[in-house]
Amino acid sequence: MSRKALIAANWKMYKTPAEAQAFVDAFLPMVQGHTRDEIALFPSPVLLPTVIPACKGSHVAVGAQNIHFAEEGAYTGETSIGQLEAVGGTHTLIGHSERRQYFAETDEIVNKKLHTALKHGIVPIVCIGEVLEEREAGKTASVLKTQASGAFAGIASLAPQAIASIVIAYEPVWAIGTGRTATPEIAADAHRIIRAEVEKLLGANVAAAMRILYGGSVKPDNIAKLMAEEEIDGALVGGASLKPDSFTAIVKY
Ligand code: 13P
Repeated sequence: MSRKALIAANWKMYKTPAEAQAFVDAFLPMVQGHTRDEIALFPSPVLLPTVIPACKGSHVAVGAQNIHFAEEGAYTGETSIGQLEAVGGTHTLIGHSERRQYFAETDEIVNKKLHTALKHGIVPIVCIGEVLEEREAGKTASVLKTQASGAFAGIASLAPQAIASIVIAYEPVWAIGTGRTATPEIAADAHRIIRAEVEKLLGANVAAAMRILYGGSVKPDNIAKLMAEEEIDGALVGGASLKPDSFTAIVKY
């Protein structure tokens, strides 16, 4: 089963509109004609009206780092899926570990957000991963299974086309922003555990086709080894995605 790789930039809470525009101006010419991999940018919501028009007509997709599960409502500080759609966003991250850690996002919330994204045809990248204490206590597999089954509750009964759009990002929390990348073997092992759980939840065909990205200190000098693993279907890149040169080097590994 060959899965088209997706290389995604999570800019987190960085960049002004002018900086975002400058990134896109430099980046698009460098990746023009690069169709081996899908490419997506995830800027802060306030940058979407800059980045989406700037990427229009290119093969670079743009999405949100987070959406609320409700269609609309009195949720101060949140972004709705309809607002994302209205500005032309096509993708969203869901359940990033920073959302789980700092904003109390639970598997139940992740699940609600996933249902909302699929209902609207927005491509979801569901993020899961263990923290260091869990890995050291030998709990990685059970944490990944719990997060995957929590995220995918009620998903099996949805239309196959909706289910097929789901992407998973395995981001071990101990590797995020620490410079301590998971070795390709550690990442691939985790991906196998996740894929086996997806097979249980959603069936063998869905599991074989689902893209599982790796995230956590991905850099130009470690991407090739990670991507050499059959199990790794792309990357979700934080720090090294902020500069056009280094993100281009990752995209063109
Ligand atoms: P870093 O690449 O900075 O470790 O961040 C990874 C991440 O959290 C991407 O979502």
